[in-house]
Amino acid sequence: MDQYRVFGNPIKQSRSPIIHQSFAQQTQQQLNYQSVYVALELFEQTIITFMHSGAKGANITAPFKEQAMALCDKLTERAQLAGAVNTLTFTGGKIFGDNTDGEGLVQDLLNHKILLKNSRILLLGAGGAAKGVILPLLAQGPQKIVIANRTVSKAEELIKKFNNNKLTATGFDALGAEKFDLIINATSASLTGKIPPLSKELIANTDCYDMVYGKELSPFLAWAKANGASNVIDGLGMLVEQAAESFRTWRNVSPETASVLNRLRKED
Ligand code: ATR
Repeated sequence: MDQYRVFGNPIKQSRSPIIHQSFAQQTQQQLNYQSVYVALELFEQTIITFMHSGAKGANITAPFKEQAMALCDKLTERAQLAGAVNTLTFTGGKIFGDNTDGEGLVQDLLNHKILLKNSRILLLGAGGAAKGVILPLLAQGPQKIVIANRTVSKAEELIKKFNNNKLTATGFDALGAEKFDLIINATSASLTGKIPPLSKELIANTDCYDMVYGKELSPFLAWAKANGASNVIDGLGMLVEQAAESFRTWRNVSPETASVLNRLRKED
C-alpha cells in the first residue's frame, strides 16, 4: 500500500490521519497514513529514511516546516514565498515541496461564501502562518491586503518579498477607522489567551477568521462575536481544506470535504 505520514513534534493532537483516511475511503484510494513524532534533531534523517523506504509523500507540521523546505529538490512558487513546506511528494528519489495552507484558507473562506474578489482584507500577524497565506489570497483578486503586526518592521520585511502594490504593512495602533470586509487572525496570540489590540469599530459587521481552532471559540473570535462581527469562523475548515489540497497533489483526485469537517466537529 502507498505510504504517507505526517511528521511533527508534538504530534498526538494531529487530526491529519483521520482526515486522510476519510478521504482515502471516500475516493477508494489504497493508502496508509499515520502520524509520527520526530525528535527535534532527527527530522532530516527521518524524512530521508522514510523516502528511501519507498513512501509516496508526507505532511510536515510544526516545528519542521522551514527545515522541510531546505530538504526539497524543487518547490512550488507558493511554498517558496511561504518560506515553509507542509507537503512533500517523493518521486524518483527527489523531494517535491508544496505549501497547501494558503489554498486551504482560501477554499474554506469560499466554502463560507466569503467574497474575496475586490475585498479589503486585514491580515493580523507577520509570522509563518501569515506568510503562508498571502500568495493564495492575492490570487483571489482582493482590492487590498493590509498586514498589521505588533512588530511593524516584520510586516514591512514580509511585504518586500512579494513586491505587490496591493500589500501594505502597518502596526496595530496605526490602523485608524478604515473598514475591512474580512479580518484574518494569523497571530499566535490566541494560543496564549490574548487578543491582538484592535478597536471595536473595526470588528462591527466584519467577517472574522482565526486560523486556530478548538472546542471553544478562540479569544479573538469570542471577542469579535461579542462586538458585532458578521461571521466568526475558526481554522478547522482550513485544516481539512489544506489536507484536501495535499491529497489532490498526491492522488490526483478531489475528495469531498464537508462531511469530513462535520465529522471532526462532532468529535470535538
Ligand atoms: P506562526 O508560525 O504561528 O506565525 P510566529 O512565526 O512565531 O508563529 O509568529 C507569531 C505571530 O504572532 C507574529 O506576527 C507575532 O507578532 P510579533 O512579530 O510582533 O512577535 C504575533 N503575536 C504573538 N503574540 C501576539 C500578541 N499577544 N499580540 C499580537 N500579536 C502577537
